[in-house]
Amino acid sequence: MIDSDARLIEEILRLKRERNAIILAHNYQLGEVQDIGDFVGDSLELSQRAAQTDAGVIVFCGVHFMAETASILCPDKVVLLPDMDAGCPMANMVTADALRGRKKEHPGAVVVCYINSSAEVKAESDVCCTSANAVRIVDKLPSGIEILFVPDQYLGHYISTKTGREMILWPGYCPTHIRIKAQDIIKLREEHPQAKVTVHPECRPEVIALADEVLSTGGMCRFASSTEAKEVIIGTEIGLLHRLRKENPGKRFIPASDQAVCPRMKLITLERILWTLEEMTPEVKVPEEIRLRAKASVDKMLEAA
Ligand code: 13P
Ligand code: SF4
Repeated sequence: MIDSDARLIEEILRLKRERNAIILAHNYQLGEVQDIGDFVGDSLELSQRAAQTDAGVIVFCGVHFMAETASILCPDKVVLLPDMDAGCPMANMVTADALRGRKKEHPGAVVVCYINSSAEVKAESDVCCTSANAVRIVDKLPSGIEILFVPDQYLGHYISTKTGREMILWPGYCPTHIRIKAQDIIKLREEHPQAKVTVHPECRPEVIALADEVLSTGGMCRFASSTEAKEVIIGTEIGLLHRLRKENPGKRFIPASDQAVCPRMKLITLERILWTLEEMTPEVKVPEEIRLRAKASVDKMLEAA
């Protein structure tokens, strides 16, 4: 570690104590950001952790919808996002207005929204889900009803194949995960015949079809530590490799594609975390009327999980 980083970290830790803050970091964050996190996890684990914390301030090292979810669950806490430009492009592919329009075309449909969506979209939805629990949540819906799933068409397609439920899919996608191509997996399997292949359900269907396991980032961490395999091909954003390598020094983790980088996740740096704690800004706060409706769909998910 370079000296300037050590000084930054010291300052961050001092201010964190002074402000009674907790640092939550997503698995795709830069390695040095993950390393100062009080908790590192996937979207579901982070929302559960936010809901449970006693800290008065949450510094959310992730993207905007994740900080919003923390604000939805913890209205009395100050939720800080060190860079307001850290938005999820997939979440921005559906707006509340557009969703309201689609609901009018399907008046009886149950709306299931991926957690990668704005608070306004969650407020227009009946139940939320993450990649860790999406199949279980859709499986539990009463049979015979129409299901509208937003915004990730590929996660939606995967859920349909697992549950046998037909769903109306929104045409959203993750620009990072679609960079992983079937050809990447085929080539890596040839080069590493003993390796297990894990991919995120945001990947294209033809990539998912080639995988041994389809998992959330938290699921990949659990799989990595429990598998007998010594080599694992990782079909998700490359930030996860930091944690996998740190927790499993005896195993080899191979990125499915070096191009699977989420630039918005990488906007959060140690410098910005320090600045955020000094200035106590920028804060993410969901207006109460939207929060209450969004919370109902997030609560339904957490109860089911
Ligand atoms: P996880 O919930 O699996 O961590 O995924 C979040 C995400 O944004 C995937 O691109
Ligand atoms: Fe959004 Fe994709 Fe980045 Fe996840 S990896 S935050 S879905 S753009």
